[in-house]
Amino acid sequence: MKPSKKYLKGKVVLVTAGPTRESIDVARYISNRSSGKMGYALAKAAGDMDARVILISGPTSLPPGPAHTKIVRVETASEMLKAILKNIKNADIFIMAAAVSDFRPARHAVQGKIKRTKGPILLKLKPTRDILKAISKKEGLKKNLIKVGFAAETGSLMSRAYQKLKDKGLDVIIGNDISRKDIGFENDFNQVYIINKDKTFIKTKRLKKELIAQRIILYLLDKRN
Ligand code: CTP
Repeated sequence: MKPSKKYLKGKVVLVTAGPTRESIDVARYISNRSSGKMGYALAKAAGDMDARVILISGPTSLPPGPAHTKIVRVETASEMLKAILKNIKNADIFIMAAAVSDFRPARHAVQGKIKRTKGPILLKLKPTRDILKAISKKEGLKKNLIKVGFAAETGSLMSRAYQKLKDKGLDVIIGNDISRKDIGFENDFNQVYIINKDKTFIKTKRLKKELIAQRIILYLLDKRN
């Protein structure tokens, strides 16, 4: 299959990208190293194949995004979940490439700025909601919706990624090793395992994220047919 062909004409592809941010006070937040590049590349690859793309993006410094893409900008995990729920009903493919913050401050963000102290201060965190798990319980979605997640791992990649696929009710999970400096977070390259719920998988080469994105979309199309 050629990546430039209009395989996704008439299809809606919903992609999330980038990190989320959870405010501590007016100046500080908790976030992670996601650049958003993988999610933006997926949005572009789907757009190039003529899909109607909705990109829900956490804060990134990337240019506004591919042409013909509706961009919804969010900051927190909870805003991301709301935006997904609003946009997922017509989706044929849903790809959760965002690196959602797993924790947020237990208290609401402090008004103003927490002042410097001489001694240590304690920051109590509580878990954010698992967005994919929440979506897996959602009714009224398209019957053939393909749900795809990412697994950011530092060891036992295959088994942990597959466990996440099961726990989060996914069809496919993209496993990547975030302990490597030459791929993944803040990098233009990636090397991934595309793992299917039937336990078959494909290991890609280390490639530019644009090419990884094309491979992922073509894989999804291939599996659907
Ligand atoms: N994810 C999510 N909601 C969260 C955290 C993660 O929907 N609150 C999604 C991510 O977007 C990704 C998948 O779950 O598609 C796996 O994310 P990952 O960070 O690898 O795993 P976690 O579920 O956060 O578990 P852990 O950090 O313990 O590995």
